[in-house]
Amino acid sequence: MSRAPLSIVVLAAGKGTRMRNGRPKVLHPLAGWPLIRHVLATARSLEPDRLVVVLAPAMDEVVAEVRRSAADAEIVVQDPPLGTGHAVAVACPKLPPQGAVLVLYGDTPLLTRPTLERLLSAREEAGAAVAVLAFRPPDPSGYGRLRFEGDELVELVEERHADSRLRVEGLCNSGVMAFDAARLPILVDELPLRQEKNEYYLTDTVSRAVATGWRCRAVEAPWAEGLGVNSQRQLAELERLWQERRRGELLDEGVVMPAPETVFLAADCQVAPGAVIEPYVVLGPGVRIGAAAVIHSFSHLESAVVDEGASVGPFARLRPGTVLEAGARVGNFVETKATRLGKGAKANHLSYLGDATIGAAANIGAGTITCNYDGFAKHRTEIGDGAFIGSNTALVAPVRVGNGAIVGAGSTVTEDVPDDALAIARGRQATKPGRAAELRARLRRAAREQGRS
Ligand code: UD1
Ligand code: CA
Repeated sequence: MSRAPLSIVVLAAGKGTRMRNGRPKVLHPLAGWPLIRHVLATARSLEPDRLVVVLAPAMDEVVAEVRRSAADAEIVVQDPPLGTGHAVAVACPKLPPQGAVLVLYGDTPLLTRPTLERLLSAREEAGAAVAVLAFRPPDPSGYGRLRFEGDELVELVEERHADSRLRVEGLCNSGVMAFDAARLPILVDELPLRQEKNEYYLTDTVSRAVATGWRCRAVEAPWAEGLGVNSQRQLAELERLWQERRRGELLDEGVVMPAPETVFLAADCQVAPGAVIEPYVVLGPGVRIGAAAVIHSFSHLESAVVDEGASVGPFARLRPGTVLEAGARVGNFVETKATRLGKGAKANHLSYLGDATIGAAANIGAGTITCNYDGFAKHRTEIGDGAFIGSNTALVAPVRVGNGAIVGAGSTVTEDVPDDALAIARGRQATKPGRAAELRARLRRAAREQGRS
């Protein structure tokens, strides 16, 4: 069965002045992703025939982000931005006049695909010109309200124009609307200019449709999905809700998290069922955790892969490019970057391992440091399978320690160590019997004479 064409328009031309930090609002991060990436990912999950993003002039960073997260999206510039209704009018010439047009806001990132599908089918089944996604947030201030006559939706009223009865009603406009593509150009063509903000409101399409004798529908979404971000406070609240939702999903899938409220997850991190995430762990973007891996408390991971049965922390920091193969262990106060630990390799205490390849079952002693940077360039360290690096070793890269080689504790290794060789690179120990006692007696005498003078 071929379905009617679906176009999606994402509005993101707003400056976001209420965020108070000069950054385009839709680039603010939620779970490590810019807000707009969440919206575009949800939009793409609906497999639209056309995806259009409306931006203001000189939003180069947002353009780059849109290209990254939805290469197939078309960008339309609204110059100057004159409101949500104007934004859709500017996008209209890009849209085929058949099927449905779904309008999403770049600042409303918690929407899910099933909810949007529900909105689209409700509009289609009713043959409505417009369907509005409504929701009941715990704090409705700032949102537009829906006005009904009997069962019919007749108007969207911005909060500042809402009477007290409508305000307490609490059913709000999420901003998300579905339109009949054929009738949308007519609806946005002659919107009134609202003097108070010098803007054309998309919300005014509802009363215009009703005046033309066209039906409008409302569908209620789970309240969290309708929340928009206008301020830092709201952004933090959405982060909390996003984290809560994602933790719940992981628990349902069988991830073990005894204190889920202390674990922070990025939007794209993957955790396999059976993995254990202890309290106070941050899993940043690009993290992949395999089954039966354990991430102990207070560990911080970014773009790192932890294979099955590997163990991390407590207090470990895995930076981008880290790979721990099955059963590898990285213990407390160990930092890794662009480093692979082979199967069963261990770095249990106090180390920096950067730009390194560490063979299977190798043992990296406490305090080992890869000296990967000479002030100009980064160099690699290679450690072979089954090698043993004694504690407090400095490995000056580029350098290779062969398979099965042993490096004595406290060495500074500047030359390659062949397979199965023993390397010791430190000052030879000198031991002088009785000299400590002599030294102590001399110092004591000197202190006494000093006291007399
Ligand atoms: C809007 C709705 C309000 C709804 C709320 C939900 C209108 C008039 N009001 O208010 O009923 O409850 O969203 O969050 O629509 N944008 C453009 N071009 C513009 C202006 C805005 O693309 O010229 C984009 C913004 O980047 C943003 C979205 O449209 O992503 C909404 O704009 P915003 O100014 O945040 O509208 P609200 O005041 O929140
Ligand atoms: Ca908004």
